Amino acid sequence: MRLAGKTALITGSARGIGLAFARAYLAEGAEVAIADINLDAARKAAESLGPKAHAIALDVTRQDSIDAAFADAIGRMGKLDILINNAALFSAAPIVEITRADYDKLFAVNVAGTLFCQQAAARHMIERGEGGTIINMASQAGRRGEALVAVYCATKAAVISLTQSAGLDLIRHGINVNAIAPGVVDGEHWDGVDAFFAKYEGKPLGQKKREVGAAVPFGRMGTAEDLTGMAIFLATPEAKYIVAQCFGVDGGNWMA
Ligand SMILES: NC(=O)c1ccc[n+]([C@@H]2O[C@H](COP(=O)([O-])OP(=O)(O)OC[C@H]3O[C@@H](n4cnc5c(N)ncnc54)[C@H](O)[C@@H]3O)[C@@H](O)[C@H]2O)c1
Repeated sequence: MRLAGKTALITGSARGIGLAFARAYLAEGAEVAIADINLDAARKAAESLGPKAHAIALDVTRQDSIDAAFADAIGRMGKLDILINNAALFSAAPIVEITRADYDKLFAVNVAGTLFCQQAAARHMIERGEGGTIINMASQAGRRGEALVAVYCATKAAVISLTQSAGLDLIRHGINVNAIAPGVVDGEHWDGVDAFFAKYEGKPLGQKKREVGAAVPFGRMGTAEDLTGMAIFLATPEAKYIVAQCFGVDGGNWMA
């Protein structure tokens, strides 16, 4: 039980990678707030995970929602040791078709959401004076450009940058901020990505997934469970000297 006695808030954890993180953290003894804009899904997830999982309504684009969600989570769990900034949106379009509305929406969730949830967690952790862990979900997309994916790539580059600045600012309070950069992870998110490529590259549904999976040096797409080891490790005392880093967990995909 590497996280016994710890409490965590995971944004966007009603499904996908965030839900796998919640399950893994609970298995390691933590108490977890499943904070998501989809409260029904968060409730269903929390019910299936047991009494140490709490469903919390959170829209990371709204400051009043962030304030209420963190107060609710801290009220229910007594404190907050770990934040995982996991909620994000994806979109794809050629440069000439990108809309301002889409740009604003992705930056509001992926970048401002990460920054202001990070701020809410840090304020609590500094006041409490016992340090903490913040993990931001970046992406291989934040380390390179991708044709058709300009806005999402830019948001994830910003997440890596926010991790670096926050990591340097907050370590003096004993708060470790680091990021995880997945490659291609199968699940509902990638069903959506696949549909974008079907539209813009004229591929039948499912073909892009098969292509990206075959191209991963490990030999397949990732699963959400492939990422849980890093998310647990970064929240343990063994990781306390790791500051402002971004770790690829991608089967070798970005390196290739
Ligand atoms: N799946 C991949 O291949 C992949 C690759 C690289 C990085 N990532 C990153 O990993 C993280 C998780 O990805 P996933 O595949 O599980 O995504 P997902 O789309 O399956 O889940 C995202 C969750 O965020 C929630 N959400 C959306 N907008 C929100 C908002 N405004 N406030 C609160 N919650 C909101 C959704 O309801 C959903 O539960 C994301 O940051 C994503 O960018 C995923």
